[in-house]
Amino acid sequence: MKIEVIGNSGCKVEVVREDTKLFVLKSTEDPKYLERLALQAEKQKAASDMHVPNIIVPKVYEISKSDAKTEIRMDYVYSQNYIDYFENAGVHEIDAFIEAMIAFVEQEIQQSPIAKCSNEVLMTKFEDVAGKVSKRADYNEELSEFMGKARKKIADAGDLRIPTGVCHGDLTFSNVLFCGQQYCLIDFLDSFIETPLQDIVKLRQDAQYLWSCLMYQQPYDELRLKLISEYVDERLDKHFSQYDWYKEHYEVLQLMNMLRILPYAKEDKVIEYLKRVIKTLV
Ligand SMILES: Nc1ncnc2c1ncn2[C@@H]1O[C@H](COP(=O)(O)OP(=O)(O)OP(=O)(O)O)[C@@H](O)[C@H]1O
Ligand SMILES: [Mg+2]
Repeated sequence: MKIEVIGNSGCKVEVVREDTKLFVLKSTEDPKYLERLALQAEKQKAASDMHVPNIIVPKVYEISKSDAKTEIRMDYVYSQNYIDYFENAGVHEIDAFIEAMIAFVEQEIQQSPIAKCSNEVLMTKFEDVAGKVSKRADYNEELSEFMGKARKKIADAGDLRIPTGVCHGDLTFSNVLFCGQQYCLIDFLDSFIETPLQDIVKLRQDAQYLWSCLMYQQPYDELRLKLISEYVDERLDKHFSQYDWYKEHYEVLQLMNMLRILPYAKEDKVIEYLKRVIKTLV
């Protein structure tokens, strides 16, 4: 048996059956992604050792790497996506999800001592993104003004002092598979700063800014999802507000996060979304 799914990253995801057991094979032949997928698998392996209550991470059995292809082989996890879960969940299930995400990020914080991330690191990343944005066919005065304001906001942030060490790297709701009251994390990603703050940024990309629903193709109850997302967001924000580094640097990293999507945005609805969000952040 073989089922294929192509994700946004362009990787091929296949489900294969061997005897009675199902496995996922995730692979890429894109030269730019060969190393990233291997790093993703290493991160996933490290995360399987974390043992956070109600968090599961598919076991990685094999990482095969050649000049032409990287392929990883992991457990298949029976699950629902977050929209189906939110459509049917009661408040206890939503609370269980929030608590599991908080526990996961808290464990990362324990493993990440506070360290300095110099403003130069942020500015280098920003200029890289700004260069790509300026090559967009629709680059105009409005975008140029946005980028100018963003540059100032990031420069003004100065050096950051944030927990540094581990993160999932792409912890949006779409990279969580919902299995009852257990939450399975997939699609780990290397990040330009390995900080748990990046995972809070990604969680709030969905909770505060409803990013993943923009990509969702099926019909769903928009009002219900909006209300649940607001509830999740309030609880996440309240919990992490105990940390000064979160209160001081969340916005600048969220701005950087949204800016990084801009060079690759193709659909009008995504471009409009990004402009709207970036405007509130600058
Ligand atoms: N271990 C797994 N068990 C069950 N389903 C999985 C597993 N890994 C991936 N999938 C399915 O494949 C989809 C895409 O996987 P993944 O997020 O790793 O790939 P991707 O290429 O990064 O996709 P995207 O860019 O859309 O996030 C998931 O949303 C999920 O439905
Ligand atoms: Mg994904």
